[in-house]
Amino acid sequence: MRFLTVVGARPQFVKAAMLSRELRQRHEEVLVHTGQHYDDLLSDIFFRDLHLPAPDLNLGVGSASHAVQTARILERLEGVLQEQRPDCVIVFGDTNSTLAGALAAAKLGLPVAHVEAGLRSYDRSMPEEVNRVVTDHLSTYLFAPTATAVACLAAEGITEGVHRVGDLMYDALLATLPLVERREEELLRARGVERGAYYLATIHRQANTDDHGVLRRLFQALSFLDLPVVLPLHPRTLAAAREAAVLPGDNLRISEPVGYIEMLALERNARAVLTDSGGVQREAYFLEVPCVTLREETEWPETLKSGWNVLAGSDPARIVAAARRPLPLEAPERAFGDGRAAARIVEILERASPDGPNASSHHA
Ligand code: UD1
Ligand code: UDP
Repeated sequence: MRFLTVVGARPQFVKAAMLSRELRQRHEEVLVHTGQHYDDLLSDIFFRDLHLPAPDLNLGVGSASHAVQTARILERLEGVLQEQRPDCVIVFGDTNSTLAGALAAAKLGLPVAHVEAGLRSYDRSMPEEVNRVVTDHLSTYLFAPTATAVACLAAEGITEGVHRVGDLMYDALLATLPLVERREEELLRARGVERGAYYLATIHRQANTDDHGVLRRLFQALSFLDLPVVLPLHPRTLAAAREAAVLPGDNLRISEPVGYIEMLALERNARAVLTDSGGVQREAYFLEVPCVTLREETEWPETLKSGWNVLAGSDPARIVAAARRPLPLEAPERAFGDGRAAARIVEILERASPDGPNASSHHA
């Protein structure tokens, strides 16, 4: 079979690396990078860390407003899809690249496979929520990571083509851990932090960066913490922090974004992780590190069970209390699959292909 995979943002390179490896064993894959993320530390470093093959094409859309960025991808992708005529277009997650990839394919009548289908925050002010809902409703194959995601799709009347396969982020973490273990001592030393004696934080959500009051409160909360805070900053957050004239405390170790291997090493050895990232919440859970989510809701409610993850919004008192809470007593549940999501996705796509053994059905 011939697949065309659309990626554009940091977490999508991680997921695509796992699926690509599996797909390319038996099939042809055309990898298209939209160019949504273009800095080395948001893009190329993930290709290097995860040995993801270089993209066959880069649409070079760059940064812009939601409408302009989405429209540019749509416009540039249409011709590529017409030329390549893949059997299926694969998209991941909930970014503007996801939405545009799904929409361009659906308009040409090409089957769309959505990896990470069924995630919902039920907050339509979040750009990612709009992207997820529309992408799910356009998709032929909906690869849901969890039972909750399957239930969310069913609540919207989507049951055809839904498959619970587990989470590719878990596949990626398991595949990369041996490398992390080998390098973590050196990486921690280079950052000047000691195992269990620092916090790790990330902030990049629109709701947390565009509102300067919220951003100032988040920086205040981190500055109140009792240990150093390693804070690799997304460029949008750095720009917003400058505009908002935030006053970072002396305990903040602000840096550029870090690569995937270093990030896992920093997560694994932190006292706790504070984040508004979907990927980082799950990674903390997989690694059994307490997480404080700097939002009022999460699409990953499984992580809240047994107290491994706590929602703390942007209130400094709540955030500080959550970061200093004792370690949960129960081990995390294995709610995100077994690290074989990629193999399962490929098997399902093969079964559903016109030449596959179960050509007529693609039910869960
Ligand atoms: C995007 C996704 C978000 C995802 C995140 C992963 C959407 C709507 N948002 O958010 O769901 O969690 O990626 O990291 O698709 N910038 C750079 N260099 C880059 C890329 C961006 O400096 O290589 C700056 C630009 O100023 C840009 C801003 O970051 O305007 C935001 O980038 P954008 O891709 O629009 O959204 P993210 O916040 O990265
Ligand atoms: N990540 C990274 N370096 C960083 C911040 C995040 O390698 O400085 C990784 C993180 O470990 C996870 C992915 O990027 O694998 C998550 O991306 P992000 O938080 O940007 O997006 P989200 O998951 O919220 O969509």
